[in-house]
Amino acid sequence: MAQSFRKGLTSYGDARFSLFLRKVFIKAMGYSDDALDRPIVGITNTYSDFNPCHGNVPDLIESVKRGVMLAGGLPMVFPTISIHESFAYPTSMFLRNLMAMDTEEMIRAQPMDAVVVIGGCDKTLPAQVMAAASAELPTIVVPVGPMVVGHHKGEVLGACTDCRRLWGMHRAGTIDEVEIEQIGNRLAPSVGTCMVMGTASTMACLVEAMGLALPMSAAAPATHADRKRIAEASGKRAAEMAVADAPRPSALITPESVHNALVVLQAIGGSTNGIIHLTAMAGRAGVKVELDALDRLGREVPTLLNLKPSGAHYMEHFHHAGGLARLMRELSSLLHLDAPTVAGGTLGDAIAAAEDVPGQEVIRPLAAPLKAQGAMAVLRGNLAPLGAVIKQSAASPPLMRHTGRAVVFDSVEDMTTRIDQPELDVAADDILVLRNAGPKGAPGMPEAGYLPIPIKLAREGIKDMVRISDARMSGTAFGTIVLHITPEAAVGGPLAVVRTGDRIALDVPARRIELLIDDDELQRRLAAWRAAPPRRAAVRGYAKLFETSVLQADQGCDFDFLLRADGVVDESAG
Ligand code: FES
Repeated sequence: MAQSFRKGLTSYGDARFSLFLRKVFIKAMGYSDDALDRPIVGITNTYSDFNPCHGNVPDLIESVKRGVMLAGGLPMVFPTISIHESFAYPTSMFLRNLMAMDTEEMIRAQPMDAVVVIGGCDKTLPAQVMAAASAELPTIVVPVGPMVVGHHKGEVLGACTDCRRLWGMHRAGTIDEVEIEQIGNRLAPSVGTCMVMGTASTMACLVEAMGLALPMSAAAPATHADRKRIAEASGKRAAEMAVADAPRPSALITPESVHNALVVLQAIGGSTNGIIHLTAMAGRAGVKVELDALDRLGREVPTLLNLKPSGAHYMEHFHHAGGLARLMRELSSLLHLDAPTVAGGTLGDAIAAAEDVPGQEVIRPLAAPLKAQGAMAVLRGNLAPLGAVIKQSAASPPLMRHTGRAVVFDSVEDMTTRIDQPELDVAADDILVLRNAGPKGAPGMPEAGYLPIPIKLAREGIKDMVRISDARMSGTAFGTIVLHITPEAAVGGPLAVVRTGDRIALDVPARRIELLIDDDELQRRLAAWRAAPPRRAAVRGYAKLFETSVLQADQGCDFDFLLRADGVVDESAG
């Protein structure tokens, strides 16, 4: 039996007996001694009937296994939690850290020399990378890949940018019940992740940019043969890494690779969720992500990728245009090209191998970008002392400097109840404010930041308003929407004391968001603020752990006890 199987023996007080028993049980699966002598590559199985984005995981597992065996390793598949955006109550973000803990502990608990993590739906890749960084075993990421596009009445559709746009038209009365049902059959025409630049696509791009996945991993469609070839190659590479014992996640998640990820996040028109997840992933490796660095790069790095919701195309077109490596070639002067990758070379090697596709319009050259600035801007001011973000690439230019009257909703439930009431006092130039929807407040910081346009304004043809909150927003959404206001209202951030009728000034070019009341009044209101009593649901179990341990958005919403403790050597990582 190989050394691999002797790792982490179950504690029975007799190591030889523990090994004997392990062998007895694994033999029940019909393995030969030859098979058990090979280096072991663990493969996570995140297939779930509740996760259609991961519908191709069984196929990808087969491809990874083939690759592992081609390189002389033994693949061992094991299950972990799977999370789908639409099947996670109260919100998938509530469960991300649980998946990270589950994945980390399963990697630690079972004997393996390397691991392939297969994920994709929004929170899964961040959770898996957080886990890998903490477990510190050689790891390779295989994204499940995006869906192919949908079609309706001659129009190309993408989940879920068009889910929101077309639902907005249904709310406004321009699409009837019959047609919205028909559209519902066409928006997600295959397994795989949302095919616009939502959070899943963003995270797949960041993971490839950081060298944690093989080149071309981010954009190949879930149902394309390339996706299976990437999975096979990843399995092969993992088996090599199992023997060579390198590179480990700490060699890949570095200040340089995090810088590369921030550049890519801006250039692809990435999801605002990307900055929270990147902060959490980097935090596990002891690398701090500064919001000000993101903002500085946002001014230097233009948006180059012509993809919805910032542009016109979809992930499959990005793949056929040369994929992320080709995009990064445009950004070469801004990247650390000597950053190592899991493939064994450097980021510069991956970029050098990228294909030039004549006539493609998806990846814009640096000299003719889609937008002069990057996807995201970081705002500060008396409303957001620790920062807030706006996806400026998907916002309305006329609203980027706007002062308006606040219309305040105290919670997601309050907003849901009142937003469409005919008597709601609201006008198109007001600013909709949602609070108590942050990491602790909701809990789990749901994607409620995309407040719907009140129905009476939608019916007048209003398509965008300034909306601000301590919530998140789907990367597939669009609008002039300020998110992640930190500190959140539930811990006494200034958002907690805004009143309907106050005036708020948003100035994206100046990176400011201000509540227009004098400072004495703001301090009086803050001194009088009292926290709400704990929710009944949070007195026990995971909800209690979440409520007591979750960090704010600027710290990635990780749990405080999961961050790497500097100076503490984790002996189990060896
Ligand atoms: Fe899974 Fe969009 S719902 S990626």
